[in-house]
Amino acid sequence: MTDKYSGPERIFSGVQPTGALHLGNYLGALKKFVALQHDYECLYCIVDLHAITVWQEPAKLKSQTREIAAAYLAAGVDPDVAIIYPQSLVREHMELAWYFNCVARTGWVNRMTQFKDKAGKNAENVSVGLYAYPVLQAADILLYKATHVPVGEDQKQHLELSRDIAQKFNNDFSVPNFFPLPEPLIKGPGARVMSLRDGTSKMSKSDPSDNSRINLTDSAEVIVKKFKKAKTDMGVMPGPGEDLSDRPEVDNLIGIYAALSGETRQTVIARFEGQGFGAFKPALADLAVDKLSPMTSLMNRYLADPDEIDRILMRGADRARALATPIMDEIRSTIGFLGS
Ligand code: TYM
Repeated sequence: MTDKYSGPERIFSGVQPTGALHLGNYLGALKKFVALQHDYECLYCIVDLHAITVWQEPAKLKSQTREIAAAYLAAGVDPDVAIIYPQSLVREHMELAWYFNCVARTGWVNRMTQFKDKAGKNAENVSVGLYAYPVLQAADILLYKATHVPVGEDQKQHLELSRDIAQKFNNDFSVPNFFPLPEPLIKGPGARVMSLRDGTSKMSKSDPSDNSRINLTDSAEVIVKKFKKAKTDMGVMPGPGEDLSDRPEVDNLIGIYAALSGETRQTVIARFEGQGFGAFKPALADLAVDKLSPMTSLMNRYLADPDEIDRILMRGADRARALATPIMDEIRSTIGFLGS
């Protein structure tokens, strides 16, 4: 018995196919996916089973799944290296989620702030799936015994739940270190991109104001316009060491610049110190257009050939299933099912 998980390091992450991706998804997740793919075995899932926890039009779900695949590819994920696939094509995700429903405690799930935010006052009327959502997320990760999970900061609590589930399974069935306790990879200036209209709320697909976010499908003109309209304040760009806690919008724009350029926040602050937003905003918009526009046109090129996207996704699902099958066999046998 070793006191530490000794399996291979493996990366897993997922994105929901619930609409156009935005700058937060790109900086919090996709950009990291690309950076990690050559150093680790990586699985990047399109989590359509999570998407249906709220109503999705069937035809739209298909096209949105292809759109996320196109975004992965356009961002630079190489499907010959990393595994990209839709979650619903590897049925073991659902099977393991059920086992984990029997391991996780309702008290743990009740604490999930994302459920509370999404359900709001309507908790009695949302799907059971939305409630169990984070348990399925744990199944996604642990089905492959993934050790690291690149995500934005909003997923931190879900990752803690995944660790708790892994630990309880290992304890309950007396299989120490059977599952690794997956580590979130969150750090970096893009981990929490905020709304362009309100620096205290997260940039999100569900914000009713389109001006609050930069979508990966936005044209260069729209990107420039949105940054021009972005909320700031009466001050100028801060200097090094200045406390920005009461200037959340400025703090956010500096973070976006740093994440896009790959520089530290300090470098960005030093460059723009004392300048007006009339100088900073166009520089930020230019940088964003520079980074995002080639990706947008590449995405559209991939989307022009949906059959090719489907081929890539089927192949990815086959590769994912091959990794999941032996792990799932072990899990069934550990739980005590006949025939396993
Ligand atoms: P989703 O689809 O909401 O978001 C996809 C990724 O984008 C990150 N993100 C952000 N990062 C920085 N700033 C923001 N404003 C921002 N908004 C979103 C998210 O943190 C995420 O990394 N539950 C997950 C999907 C999922 C998953 C998994 C992730 C399902 N199973 C297993 C990791 C591992 C979600 O809803 O992501």
